[in-house]
Amino acid sequence: LDNPQTDPFEIARQAARQIAERTGVARHDIALTLGSGWAKAADLIGETTATIPAAEILGFSAPALSGHVGTLRSVLLPSGKRALVIGARTHYYEGHGVRRVVHSVRTAAAAGATTMILTNGAGGIRESWTPGQPVLISDHINLTADSPLEGATFVDLTDLYSERLRAIARRVDPSLDEGVYCQFRGPHYETPAEVRMARTIGGHIVGMSTALEAIAARQAGMEVLGMSLITNLAAGIQTTPLSHAEVLEAGQAAEPVISALLARIVAKL
Ligand code: 6GU
Repeated sequence: LDNPQTDPFEIARQAARQIAERTGVARHDIALTLGSGWAKAADLIGETTATIPAAEILGFSAPALSGHVGTLRSVLLPSGKRALVIGARTHYYEGHGVRRVVHSVRTAAAAGATTMILTNGAGGIRESWTPGQPVLISDHINLTADSPLEGATFVDLTDLYSERLRAIARRVDPSLDEGVYCQFRGPHYETPAEVRMARTIGGHIVGMSTALEAIAARQAGMEVLGMSLITNLAAGIQTTPLSHAEVLEAGQAAEPVISALLARIVAKL
């Protein structure tokens, strides 16, 4: 993937073939990337029929971060559909390039998935939000100044975060709020001034993932559902300093509730 001469879609097709061989499942219908706080959903959506250390699949690497599980799982849903659960995310801030960031999404598409569920732990800009609260992503602002698309690939991003899928999620939990996700490069958290900028340009959630992945999912023709766990309020909104430990703690505390919510949503897809 690091060689510009290689075709990232060919690598994704090879990775998907490896997954099909290792799981015995020729085709997965939906894919989920489970970020901070969401991992338990893997156990709740159905029966896991295969677990693969992600590093054993072409183009994937071991997780760089505590809080990410580093496996790919094939899960049989009660409906008979097959879900590919991606517990390994390559973040843009790791500096391996955007191809590596979106490889799991492209692999999921090559494995047959037509629905991509992207979850994360993120900071909240809305004062009414409280840590531990899940919110739907309604749209994004990509502040990485990068794109997973190479060359003259002009992709429409209208309704990127599917209104249809958000409506299904809201039927499961009518109290679900939604907001615009701003992907910053990280790995530092934003300054209070950057958070004010994000708010001024229409953002409600600040994070370090998801937007680039959503673009790749749309390019692959997938329908995208995005959800953020608000692990803390953003700098300047909350007055106490932010820390990764706080993010992980909030994720752990909220995990049973939001994972059960996600499982109920997946059951309706
Ligand atoms: Cl405040 N910012 C970013 N970029 N990512 C986060 C966060 C904040 N809180 C959790 N993840």
